Amino acid sequence: MPSAVFFSGTVQVAALSNFLPGELDAIARQVQTPFYAYSTQAIRERVASLQHVFRGLDVRICYAVKANSNLAILQLMALHDVGADIVSLGEMQRSLKAGIPAGRIVFSGVGKTADEIDAALAAGVWRFNVESVDELHLIQHVAQERGASARAAVRINPDVDARTHAKISTGKAENKFGVSIDEARRWFAASASLSHVQLDGLHAHIGSQILDLEPFRMALQRVEAFRRELVGAGHAIASVDIGGGLGVTYRPGVDKPVDIADYASLVRETFAGFKGTLALEPGRWLVAEAGVLVTRAIRVKHGSDRQFLVVDAAMNDLLRPSLYDAWHEIVPLHGRDEPDVAYDVVGPVCETGDTFALGRVMPRCEAGDLLMLGGAGAYGASMGSTYNSRPLPAEVLLDDGRYAVVRRRQTLAEMMAGEQFPQAWHET
Ligand code: LLP
Repeated sequence: MPSAVFFSGTVQVAALSNFLPGELDAIARQVQTPFYAYSTQAIRERVASLQHVFRGLDVRICYAVKANSNLAILQLMALHDVGADIVSLGEMQRSLKAGIPAGRIVFSGVGKTADEIDAALAAGVWRFNVESVDELHLIQHVAQERGASARAAVRINPDVDARTHAKISTGKAENKFGVSIDEARRWFAASASLSHVQLDGLHAHIGSQILDLEPFRMALQRVEAFRRELVGAGHAIASVDIGGGLGVTYRPGVDKPVDIADYASLVRETFAGFKGTLALEPGRWLVAEAGVLVTRAIRVKHGSDRQFLVVDAAMNDLLRPSLYDAWHEIVPLHGRDEPDVAYDVVGPVCETGDTFALGRVMPRCEAGDLLMLGGAGAYGASMGSTYNSRPLPAEVLLDDGRYAVVRRRQTLAEMMAGEQFPQAWHET
């Protein structure tokens, strides 16, 4: 369900459909800038529409925590019966703390350690999505040591081009994720030797910000064909996890996301013969468009041939433009009728890559004006750092005309916590 598109001057502004400039301005006075704001309503709507299109199917939605791991967002997921897809013990702790039951948690990732596997078994996570034979044997070993049985799915690398940015493509044979169908076949053939691992699931996740149904179709068909083959060979397959990857509109009129109803139809058709549990791991689709990053212009710098709009948010707050050349809407909230100017919108960090946009045309701004960066609800705060010793920004949740601070701005003391001058020297 794409968000409505609003207009600011001549510019289409999707992000404004969830936020009123006046309320962001009022919050900015309270919490200072930069800060992330998330719309509870927008997240609820996404969750509800995903649940709606899959109604009647045995589906578990396991939110990809990495997209936005704020406890308040996770609590919102818990309240709406959404589970979690985690890749670290930190994400597990957050999920449990926010009220997501362990039985609704899937554990993905290529680098699970023995300690992580042990802690996940102790917590009772639903399932491990296993990415290598070494990991499979480690899970068997750790489960045996603790006298537990681990449920496991093999992550298939279906060798499908997701037609997205190379850095967020995961389903090609050259990517580090998952194993080939040939290798997975061997795992199942030898699965009787796994006394403490119940290998009865399949998993595939081919990439992120996918705007086209075809890569999903190809990947899911390969997974389903393999599932049938396995069942034919006498293996019970209880769950199939179809990953995340659904793209969103960062650039109105340019990004054309997959219609969620079409996606659900594809899943229903492809898995019509499957009687087990389907798992989904959406991250971005649930939260990206529900969030904005609000920043204040520090100054306009007139370069020899460019106009730089220097804002108080930077690449440490929102890394996507620097890392992936990602396009985010940038909307001045001053509301004045100003002529359009082409700005390079940059942050204060000492890197040329600390650039949110090049030559972006928008109504003229001046020092002190607030601006909003759209599509910042996913992979925004969760990828933040304190680079250049900039404390992590505040995060607020909006609901029905009210807001709550769900992460207060980090203090300088908190930023330095844990560091110390050498107090004791130990022999190596
Ligand atoms: N499941 C697995 C196993 C994943 O690796 C991911 C994302 C997801 C689910 C969720 O994918 P989504 O529904 O959000 O597309 N930092 C990048 C995105 C990296 C995605 C990594 N894996 C960005 O800002 O675009």
